[in-house]
Amino acid sequence: MPSSNLFVGTFVHTTHLGHLEVLHDHIVAVDELGFIEDVCVADSLTGASYLARPEATITSLPQGSFLLPTFCDLHLHAPQYLYLGTGLHLPLMEWLNAYAFKAEEQLDQDPNGLARMVYTRLAERLIRAGTGAALLFGTIKEETNLILADAFQNAGLRGFIGKLSMDKSTRPSYVEASTESSLTSAASFIHRCEGLTAHLPKHQQLVEPVITPRFVPTCTDELLSGLGQLSADLNVKVQSHLAEARDQVDWVKSERGVDDIEVFDRSNLLTSRTIQAHCTFLDSPSLDRLKFAGTAVAHCPLSNVYFSSLPFPLREALDIGVGVGLGSDVAGGYTVDISTAMRQAVITSRIRDSARKEATRQPSHGASSSETGSLAIDWKEALYLATKGGAEALGLKTGQFVRGAPFDAQQINLVDPKSGKGLGQLDFFGTVDRVTIEFLEKWWCLGDPSNRSAVWIQGKKVL
Ligand code: GUN
Ligand code: FE
Repeated sequence: MPSSNLFVGTFVHTTHLGHLEVLHDHIVAVDELGFIEDVCVADSLTGASYLARPEATITSLPQGSFLLPTFCDLHLHAPQYLYLGTGLHLPLMEWLNAYAFKAEEQLDQDPNGLARMVYTRLAERLIRAGTGAALLFGTIKEETNLILADAFQNAGLRGFIGKLSMDKSTRPSYVEASTESSLTSAASFIHRCEGLTAHLPKHQQLVEPVITPRFVPTCTDELLSGLGQLSADLNVKVQSHLAEARDQVDWVKSERGVDDIEVFDRSNLLTSRTIQAHCTFLDSPSLDRLKFAGTAVAHCPLSNVYFSSLPFPLREALDIGVGVGLGSDVAGGYTVDISTAMRQAVITSRIRDSARKEATRQPSHGASSSETGSLAIDWKEALYLATKGGAEALGLKTGQFVRGAPFDAQQINLVDPKSGKGLGQLDFFGTVDRVTIEFLEKWWCLGDPSNRSAVWIQGKKVL
């Protein structure tokens, strides 16, 4: 099939953890369906043959600009966008009662008005922030979640839509009527959500239902095992919160007598289809358990600062090969921008590393490598988590510029092409023509949406 779209210039991606690749003077050829047909050097025989195609549309990136894969947000509560940036003074279990349940109930009471408005705006904001795919927690009511799916599909944004399952609650007006009706509604939502895009070819289907037990405190054992069965029967992804906060962990232990990882595991909810948010309280054997199950983690470092008294053991999880991506945890995190999650992930990991060094005061010589290996991650590793790490957890081939992957990309401009001056927070004291590692690091630290001029998802320009 002839390529319709040729992108020419610099491409930046992280094909695996810690490995940043900068492809200068390359062509990425995108076919009519929005898949990458080829990645090649512009000044080559193949490059010349692409450029000579009469039907090709050529997008040449200006100097000082580059394309990067879009970000993935692995954990976001869509209805909580209503009150983003407020109410973060309470511990988790009190905050849920005071803010989260109330806001979600408000959207469920007005799906076509309030919910549609919030979800449409959220989708716009995510695209502005360079996010191309999000794994979402919605609300209890089926209709409201169908509107969420519709808003993402219409925006051209990938959305993994979680209708909440909760047959227990501290808010009597915000709970499903029974375990049975909760299970019926979960199954019904899966069919209706799939039905929304069933008329479209597969590559244009951007939304997908996800089984979403909110967390152990709001679910009976019967509900959890029913959802585990449903996920296995229908091969549908699962998401929840695992070992997030001191008050939540204590609640589960006193109510169930075991940790929540045990509760999920015995309900067949720790699977390779599962993504668990937070996991801050997991010890080393529990991380092994995630690895064994193939369950991925949505690391939400900003929210952890507010709700978890412990940081997620990120380095340890990465070292044993647990799949990890980043989440905003809106509104437990106060921004939809995954750049903040990337920066916070580095900050948190560095504090962990320094704290351990202080606690042990061990000279690096003579100690074993597992004791001396740094707990810190660097910006390149954070970029991997925000792009390829998240995409892998979601089973997407996006997150890198390789043949056969959907073309999900964002254009970042370091400078204004006319004046050559730095854009947004960026100042340069010299010319910026070639995109160097130093410039990329500067953008990573200081960039904001004013450095982003375009976003494509499945080859379609959505910003
Ligand atoms: N645990 C259960 N529900 C929630 C929620 O809405 N936000 C966060 N951060 N944790 C939760
Ligand atoms: Fe959350």
